[in-house]
Amino acid sequence: MIKTISVLGVTGSIGTQALDVIKNNPEHFKLGAISAGRNLIKLEEILADFNPPLVSVQDDSAVKELKSRFPHIEFMSGDEGLISVATYDSNLLLTAILGSVGLKPTLAAIDAGIDIALANKETLVAAGEIVMNRAREKNVQIIPVDSEHSALFQCLKGENEKEISNIIITASGGSFRDLSREELGSVTLEDALNHPNWSMGQKITIDSATMMNKGFEVIEAKHLFDVEISQIKTLLHKESIIHSMVEFIDNSIMAQLGNSDMRTAIQYAFTHPERLHKNNPLSVSELSQLNFKPMDFDRFKMLKFAYDALEAGGTLPTVMNAANEYAVGEFLGGRIKFLEIEEIVESRMMQHENIQNPDLETILSLDARYKSNMR
Ligand SMILES: NC(=O)c1ccc[n+]([C@@H]2O[C@H](COP(=O)([O-])OP(=O)(O)OC[C@H]3O[C@@H](n4cnc5c(N)ncnc54)[C@H](OP(=O)(O)O)[C@@H]3O)[C@@H](O)[C@H]2O)c1
Repeated sequence: MIKTISVLGVTGSIGTQALDVIKNNPEHFKLGAISAGRNLIKLEEILADFNPPLVSVQDDSAVKELKSRFPHIEFMSGDEGLISVATYDSNLLLTAILGSVGLKPTLAAIDAGIDIALANKETLVAAGEIVMNRAREKNVQIIPVDSEHSALFQCLKGENEKEISNIIITASGGSFRDLSREELGSVTLEDALNHPNWSMGQKITIDSATMMNKGFEVIEAKHLFDVEISQIKTLLHKESIIHSMVEFIDNSIMAQLGNSDMRTAIQYAFTHPERLHKNNPLSVSELSQLNFKPMDFDRFKMLKFAYDALEAGGTLPTVMNAANEYAVGEFLGGRIKFLEIEEIVESRMMQHENIQNPDLETILSLDARYKSNMR
């Protein structure tokens, strides 16, 4: 059977790598509906190459011109467009859009009974309980695309979750892993965007440098695998070869290894529970060493914030995520220094009066307020 795969965020790093996977396997996958943000040059290349049936863009002002250039394609925009793409008749929706704007379309796809290949981790950070409960109600699968969670998902295949002792999420340490906190005071945007192992979109590269990304992954793991918070460990592993591990009650540890190539995890999310051939093997015999170091929570404060937010529950993770989205935008725009990202996130978390068991409206309203820095 050829699977139809729709993609939110098709012009981004994950989105374009997903297109490689689809293009390399035409006998298995076909592109469904897609959404882009504002990168219309990239989008037009994709339209010429794939000819998708339905396309959504961020700004309505772009629709007229696109329609005139591609008259056989249906174009939409904004939230309505994202929801139409998400609910387009597909076998799977890849959520590769950036940030909590992915939340509403992801919920709409779940309501429509469409399985999700989830890259957009901010959705689970902002509203993990609502998303996972809705997926359980609708019997929809949430298949992780993040390399760490794909690794855990693969290590847990066929296992009894009651026999998990710990899950161990590895962290490369990001662009500044070898710098002290004092040295972080003078780093530049260019330095921050220079990730040692992975080529990714700008926001996640900054989130990796602050270690907020690892914090998001801890929260994501809690929602995906339903383990106790105390069972979620993080470990520095600078080579990014072991993507994560599961330790079982009999002390056996299962690990998943691979190159730093997101196409492996994307492809697995598309083929699960099966596997497909892929070119880019890891040559284990050439690995000279794998290094590990315990996580230093004083050095990587943002990771500690994420554990705190997860422990507190309620709306604190939503606020942390939205404040981070705002602060990273300010840093990318050159308006604040690197360490101010964590100062902003910490201060918003401290000021927030936590609300337990929030409904979707509350989450969306807090998200919008903190993302635009209106507290
Ligand atoms: N990159 C990775 O290796 C990686 C690994 C694991 C997880 N993830 C997660 O995957 C998601 C995407 O990451 P990425 O690195 O691929 O990001 P990216 O390269 O910045 O791409 C983001 C995509 O979302 C679109 N977009 C952004 N804001 C939008 C908005 N307001 N409305 C509509 N579309 C919007 C962008 O459109 P335009 O570019 O057209 O504006 C682009 O298509 C993130 O949640 C990230 O944490 C990424």
